[in-house]
Amino acid sequence: MLTQTHAKARGLADLPPVTSDSLLTLIALCDADPRNNKIDVGVGVFRDGAGNTPILKVIKEAEQRLVDTQITKAYLGSAGDKRFAELLRPILLGHHASDDRITGLQTPGGCGALRLGFELIATANPGARVLVGTPTWPNHPPIIRSVRLQQIDYPYYERGQGIIRFEDMIAALNDAEAGDVALLHGCCHNPTGADLSEDQWREVVRIVSERGLIPLIDIAYQGFGRGLDEDAFGVRLMLDACDEVVIAQSCDKSFSVYRDRVGSLFVKTGSKEATATAMAHVHQRAREMWSMPPDHGAAAVHIVLEDPELRARWLVELAEMRDRINSVRQRIAAADPRLAYIGRQFGMFSMLPLSKEQVLKLREDEAIYMAESGRFNVVGLSDDQLDRFTAAVVGALGA
Ligand code: LMR
Repeated sequence: MLTQTHAKARGLADLPPVTSDSLLTLIALCDADPRNNKIDVGVGVFRDGAGNTPILKVIKEAEQRLVDTQITKAYLGSAGDKRFAELLRPILLGHHASDDRITGLQTPGGCGALRLGFELIATANPGARVLVGTPTWPNHPPIIRSVRLQQIDYPYYERGQGIIRFEDMIAALNDAEAGDVALLHGCCHNPTGADLSEDQWREVVRIVSERGLIPLIDIAYQGFGRGLDEDAFGVRLMLDACDEVVIAQSCDKSFSVYRDRVGSLFVKTGSKEATATAMAHVHQRAREMWSMPPDHGAAAVHIVLEDPELRARWLVELAEMRDRINSVRQRIAAADPRLAYIGRQFGMFSMLPLSKEQVLKLREDEAIYMAESGRFNVVGLSDDQLDRFTAAVVGALGA
C-alpha cells in the first residue's frame, strides 16, 4: 500500500515466490518424462487394468442425452442444479436424508465444497481453530490458511507400522474447545488409506459432540472403500449425534468426472431457520468466489441418478472400480509381509515407508512417480506394471 506520495508502488513484479502444490508439480514432472516405461502412481485418478481412466458408460449415455435434449445453458444460480443436490441426499445422508435441518448445494468439486465450508465456519467464528490429523491432503492446509483460520496439527498415522495413532487423535480432540473444527476424512483417507474403524468413529463422534466441536467431514471417495453405505458410516453417525455438521462431498471419483468438477456442500444446524441463514451466507460466499458452479458434470450425474436403469448400472460400474482397487491392494499386500498393511486399508491411496531420497531414487532409476511423502495411488498401476512396481518397492525397502 502507498503510504508516501514518493513511495514506489508495489507491482506484480514484486510478488514473492510461491511454493507450488506438490501433487500438481508431480503431474507435470511425470508428463515431461520421456521414458515409455514410466509408472504414474502420483495423482489420485482411477485407472483400469490397461492403465486408462475411462469415462463411465452411464456418464457417456447421460452426456448424449444432454446433447440431444438440453435446450438452454442459461444460468441456474449460485446453488447450481438443485435437483442434483436432492438426488445426492439419500446416497450421502442415508436415514438423515429427510432431515430439513440439512441443506446442500452444488459446488465445483469437493475442493470447492471444502473452501465454501471453511468460509462458512470462518464467517461464523473467525477464532475457530481447525484440528487436522497429519498427514492430510496437501490442499487442506492452504484452504484453511486462505480463510485465515488457525490450524492445529496432531499426528494421525504411524507410517512405519501402517496404523492410526488413535490415542494422539483422541488427546487432540479432547484438548479442543467448543467451536473448534475437527477436519475428518469420511472414508478412504487421503493420503494414508487408514480409515477409522466403526468403534473408533463412535469414540470420535462422542468426543466431538460432548465438546461442542464442529465436524467438517471431507468425503471425496464414497463407494471406493467398502460400499456406498459403509463408506458413509462416519458421516451418518456424526449426524446422529451433532446439531452442527459440515460435509464436503465429491462425485469426481465415484462418477469418474474429475475434470468436470462435481461436488456438493451439505450443512446441518440445530434448526431449519438457522440452516437457512447459514445457507444464505454460503450462497453469498459462492457468489463472490465462482458465482455459479459449472453445470455439465452435475447435469450428467443428475441424469444418471434420476433414471433407475442408469442408476443401477452406475452402481455396477462403481462396484467394478471398488473391486479393482481392493484386488490391486491384495496383490501388493501379498508381495511382501512389510506391505501387508496395504491390504487392510481402503481407497486409492497408501503410504510406503520410504524416505524422500528413496522416493526420488525410484523416480530417477525406475521412472516410478509417487509423492515425496511415499503416498502412492494403488490403481495408478496397470496390470502389467504391478510386478515391476512391487519388486522396485521391495528392493527400496531393503533386505
Ligand atoms: C489427489 O489427492 O491426488 C487428488 O485429490 C487430486 C488433487 O486435486 O490433489
